[in-house]
Amino acid sequence: MATASQRKTLVARAVQAKARAYAPYSRFRVGAAILADDGTIIEGCNIENSSYSLTICAERNAVFQAAARGKTRLRAIAIASDDPEFLPPCGACRQVLSEFNPAMEIILTTVDGRTKLTSLTRLFPMPADLKKLARPRPIKRK
Ligand code: THU
Repeated sequence: MATASQRKTLVARAVQAKARAYAPYSRFRVGAAILADDGTIIEGCNIENSSYSLTICAERNAVFQAAARGKTRLRAIAIASDDPEFLPPCGACRQVLSEFNPAMEIILTTVDGRTKLTSLTRLFPMPADLKKLARPRPIKRK
């Protein structure tokens, strides 16, 4: 669980990250900030591309940046946009978030400063999880 003060910081950092969004096509800026178990905060923003489908969402960008820095124990994420409604993460991002914590806390925000606390357990209750396949297994021979 993130503390109330950590959640507040996460929201502020997600808003800061939003300012670095590269969204010339949609003009929809998104920022995300993730809290790792060791207290580190890692930010991400959406990065669009001329080949539209290569765009990466803020949430996935943040998770990948965290993992690239060796932070794979992730506690909470805050997501900020310019929308007056809460912006929940897309399905692809939910799956990617679940890789590192299927019960991650999710703090949704609106542009006018409202926040809503939810969790991946609630938003994505049945993730694909092949971690058991990643373990070495003896090969059976005939
Ligand atoms: N986007 C995000 O970064 N996160 C979301 O949760 C929803 C959508 C981005 C992708 C694209 O750059 C723009 O918002 C419009 O979909």
